[in-house]
Amino acid sequence: MRVLSGIQPTGRPHWGNFFGAIAQYIQLQQTHEGFYFIADLHALTTIRDPQQLRQNTFDAALDLLALGLDPTKATLFVQSAVPEVSELTWLLMTGTPMGLLERCHAYKEKKAKGLTADAGLFTYPVLMAADILAYDSQLVPVGQDQVQHIEVCRDIAGTFNHQFGETFVLPKAKTLEHGAKVPGTDGQKMSKSYDNTLPLFGDEKAIRKQIMRIVTDSRAMEDAKEPESDHLYQLYRLFADRDQVDAMAAMYRRGGFGYGAVKKAVADASEAYFAAARAKRRDLEANQDYVQQVLTAGAGRAREIASTVLARAKSACGVGL
Ligand code: ADP
Ligand code: TRP
Repeated sequence: MRVLSGIQPTGRPHWGNFFGAIAQYIQLQQTHEGFYFIADLHALTTIRDPQQLRQNTFDAALDLLALGLDPTKATLFVQSAVPEVSELTWLLMTGTPMGLLERCHAYKEKKAKGLTADAGLFTYPVLMAADILAYDSQLVPVGQDQVQHIEVCRDIAGTFNHQFGETFVLPKAKTLEHGAKVPGTDGQKMSKSYDNTLPLFGDEKAIRKQIMRIVTDSRAMEDAKEPESDHLYQLYRLFADRDQVDAMAAMYRRGGFGYGAVKKAVADASEAYFAAARAKRRDLEANQDYVQQVLTAGAGRAREIASTVLARAKSACGVGL
């Protein structure tokens, strides 16, 4: 089964990105044919600094490889290195109802926040549909917030197939259960937009400080607490093994503990969890030619498939002779 997903290079990745999205890619590459790309064309809807976009795109490749994406198992590439996708976007744009895009949460939210709604932002889901359909993808691992875009993709593909005959494979979204919502330092969903993120990479001491500053309630030291409702516990659970989690839950229910100790446990467990990835990232930073080679080879494999699918789609709708 072919699995595909994209990551926008819009900033440094955080724990939410890892447990909500990246961890699934790493897992799925063991059992499925994986295609993973860095969505620089999508990022262009928000990043308007060329130097920064280029840097973020390369950094995202380093991040994915450091976190365990294995280029001998999965194909890693940059979205814009496959121009067939942009051409396919146009084919799909015709036949996509405005109303379908107007209903998309991501667009509505960004517009509500006062972002200028340009055509790129509005048609963002069509480019995403092309990303998926260009590789005959069957399974698309994403965070909960992207599920609607996969539905849009299925709609667009279904309409095209209906009008021009079977052309595209209809994909399915795949979400991870416990990855659905990683809380941030303030207890809300961890997100760049809320300024409550804990980064995967960066200065360990600084991250530890951020963890020690996680907002907690005013429960007295001796009081017991239901662990499931506590965001510190939810964070600890991401990193600790079953026995450790059970022990922590028992401690919450018993009472007589301070949040400082839990924060320290979160910091220790997360450092241990990401230690190998951090070391790998440092190696990759010193080996940029290797990273570039991986991306070039990946784009080559991706283009082979995308050009076949694009030819199929053009022929179906009568574009080109
Ligand atoms: P942000 O909210 O920080 O801008 P993105 O929207 O770039 O994050 O998310 C990239 C991927 O990471 C998406 O698939 C998204 O669902 C996932 N993700 C982001 N934040 C979280 C979170 N707090 N919990 C689970 N998954 C998340
Ligand atoms: N829109 C996705 C996000 O913000 C990134 C993305 C672009 C993507 N194209 C995709 C994800 C295709 C899955 C499939 O997270």
